[in-house]
Amino acid sequence: MNISDSETIAGYLATMNYERTNIVEEADFIFFHTCCVRDSAENKIIGRIGETIRLKEKNKDLIIVVSGCMMQQPGAAELLLNKFPHIDLMIGTSNLNSIQYLVEQVIINKLNNLKYQKAQIKCFNESNSNFDEDAPILRSSWPNSWVSITKGCNNFCTYCIVPYVRGPEISRHPENILNEVHNLLKNNYKEITLLGQNVNSYGNDLKSEWTFAKLIEIASNFEYNYRVRFMTSHPKDLSQELIETIAINKRISKHIHLPIQAGSDKVLNLMNRKYSVEKYIKLINNIRNLIPGVSITTDIMVGFPGETEEDFLETMNIVKQVQFHNAYMFIYSPRKGTPAAKMPNQISSLEKKDRISRLIKLQNKISCEISKEYLNSTYEVLVDNIISDDIYCGRTDNGRLVKFKAQDSNIIGSFVNIKIKYNKGSSLWGEII
Ligand code: 5AD
Ligand code: SF4
Repeated sequence: MNISDSETIAGYLATMNYERTNIVEEADFIFFHTCCVRDSAENKIIGRIGETIRLKEKNKDLIIVVSGCMMQQPGAAELLLNKFPHIDLMIGTSNLNSIQYLVEQVIINKLNNLKYQKAQIKCFNESNSNFDEDAPILRSSWPNSWVSITKGCNNFCTYCIVPYVRGPEISRHPENILNEVHNLLKNNYKEITLLGQNVNSYGNDLKSEWTFAKLIEIASNFEYNYRVRFMTSHPKDLSQELIETIAINKRISKHIHLPIQAGSDKVLNLMNRKYSVEKYIKLINNIRNLIPGVSITTDIMVGFPGETEEDFLETMNIVKQVQFHNAYMFIYSPRKGTPAAKMPNQISSLEKKDRISRLIKLQNKISCEISKEYLNSTYEVLVDNIISDDIYCGRTDNGRLVKFKAQDSNIIGSFVNIKIKYNKGSSLWGEII
């Protein structure tokens, strides 16, 4: 989602004649787009902002802007500005469409008064209800592209900051989504990823019959050679209609990212996830029965308040039972203002680290075993990037990343058949055939 937001930011800056540079010392404008889902992301960005103090000492004209959901937390922008007075502007996630005006103000202030100007803070939710349909998106992921279909979230999982910083869930108008998809296809994009915190509840707020299944079905029915992917799904909302739609539509990627978060009903309940382990397993079995070859990935958190060793072992058991292709595994990180941050029985950092390392070890072993099942079979791969010299990568229809040798960079953006030759850990290596 932040990659997608960053493409919008880059688009606005390009209309002001800014060009991208990879050399930070050469930049006369640095834009930080933050994330506050976990403290690791916050700490990283604070470190990076700190590094720009010396750049600003060398170049007084350097403009530093900070945006993203970290800025949407009450008081966070003011705190950050106290720590780093060299920041010129702070913008919230719903104010990105004011970037041009706000940056112009910073430049005018600099021109009129060479002395330090206190940063402007523009982080309000007042325009959250509208999608910025006219945003001049500067895409940087061809042949892949991101298309937002919802923003915000209504679920209030007790550990999660998203509903507070991104606001209530709002579905984008289907006509605008489908127009964007069609335009991308006309411009030779080959993969469309429909994005939302919980794509499965798409349409709930629209006073019409639109469901996510209907939307993705129409989005995958244009007469082009392409794939449609989506993320993220919430197990409580993933419908039978959607599973059947994925099963019969050859343009929809056979990959479902389905965060389980924990393997203990007690913890799931404390998290306010609204499903039981049994219901999750039933859903997985149903998906696997109806969509042969599907890959299922997940998010898992360890060290949620009150998680005992027994609860954690239940998570380990579920991971063994389900056999996820891959998992994003996190240490629970208390977020100010969320119910879980105030829950009793917070888990010590030592315990959390011990649990995450056991979980990662187990999942790596499983991912590695599953990768072996791909050996000697041939898959259609959409080539999407070059890794180095003559090594390219792309994804199979079920979302698996495959690396292989090729000579011609024109191969990027095309579908090729790759025979998987070997695996290095969980990553797959193959040969064009
Ligand atoms: N601590 C740790 N992980 C979190 N996530 C969300 N909030 C937190 C938190 N406070 C994880 C969840 C979610 C993923 C995007 O980030 O697993 O699915
Ligand atoms: Fe956060 Fe996802 Fe839960 Fe929404 S559904 S509150 S974004 S974890």
